[in-house]
Amino acid sequence: MSFLPKPHGGKLIQLFDPSYDVSKVHGEIHIDAIALSDLELIGIGLFSPLTGFLGKKDYDSVVENMRLADHTVWSIPVTLPVSNEVAEGLEIGESYKLIFNNQVYGLIKVSEWYESDLKKEALHVYKTEELAHPGVRRLFERGPVYVAGEIILVKKPEKGVFQDVWLEPKDTRALFEEKGWKTVVGFQTRNPIHRAHEYIQKAALETVDGLFVSPLVGETKSDDIPADIRLKSYHVLLENYYPTNRVHLGVYPAAMRYAGPREAIFHAIARKNFGCTHFIVGRDHAGVGNYYGTYDAQHIFSHFTEEELGIKPLFFEHSFYCNKCEGMASDKTCPHTVEDRVILSGTKVREMLRSGALPPSTFSRREVVEILIEGIREKETV
Ligand code: ADX
Repeated sequence: MSFLPKPHGGKLIQLFDPSYDVSKVHGEIHIDAIALSDLELIGIGLFSPLTGFLGKKDYDSVVENMRLADHTVWSIPVTLPVSNEVAEGLEIGESYKLIFNNQVYGLIKVSEWYESDLKKEALHVYKTEELAHPGVRRLFERGPVYVAGEIILVKKPEKGVFQDVWLEPKDTRALFEEKGWKTVVGFQTRNPIHRAHEYIQKAALETVDGLFVSPLVGETKSDDIPADIRLKSYHVLLENYYPTNRVHLGVYPAAMRYAGPREAIFHAIARKNFGCTHFIVGRDHAGVGNYYGTYDAQHIFSHFTEEELGIKPLFFEHSFYCNKCEGMASDKTCPHTVEDRVILSGTKVREMLRSGALPPSTFSRREVVEILIEGIREKETV
């Protein structure tokens, strides 16, 4: 008997078929890197119950109600944008090869295409239409014409340095079972793991059997620390400070949307598909700039019942090192003042790392900082 949650929608979608004969399919649709990532993640079931790119009915329902048309919770539209010319040349009901960099990665059986209202999508999903928001900018850059249809994944993109930590939901589910974990908490990040992250992960781990560290390695904005550098820092941190039998590292290969609260739900559902029973949501989860309130990504969970979500969020207060407490703490546990607390913004830390300055070890462990500085230097000299 399995203690892990069922995949979202009830079953793990598996649409990878490398033996599919694509030579019979003549039409082509060229896709961008984000669509390639979405294609793969639908194909391997990380986006279960999706079996393709959203049609208009599901899209409208997701934008307006955070649910698919059949009422299943789903907070971010997964869509395939194309140009008007491409859309007008499509034949409904036909299959098309999905091509990235001259390689066929999948097929789509086109069920329809439609023009979306991007302003509405931006306001509902991102809570702003400002182009300064990286998710909104990308939304508008990709354009409003969406093609819908079921997909088949025929080829998986190369994994490069992520090969060993690229686990699919079927793999993580088997792994958690093998380890005998009945409860597993998932942790999302697009950053290096700093002391506050470590603190909330370990606080969560005190109450569950396993911790699944699941850093996002899909597209991020250009000033976020590149995923390959972060990967080295995760390894060094886990090797030195985490119990190997209770922690596993596996990447989350989706593109970052920066959609704050809506993305917290999306992240939780994907981690449920990996087999996690719990999911950490701290301060300003998946946020950017000042678009979302510090705890909006926690409040949004109250829109859904625990049964329909199927994964339990674990909420954490803004955490920091307090010099007077001489330890990690939060407003909930620390009686001291802001002056006693080591709080650095992400932007400030990135600036320090780029200039070679060391953030204090009370903010980030020395081993992590050294890897980040070295990684950033190497990138800047090539
Ligand atoms: S993101 O993917 O959510 O954008 P980030 O690295 O900023 O990545 O945060 C990862 C997780 O840690 C999120 O759940 C976030 O809310 C939480 N978090 C980050 N910093 C803190 C902090 N200082 N205190 C509490 N939670 C935090």
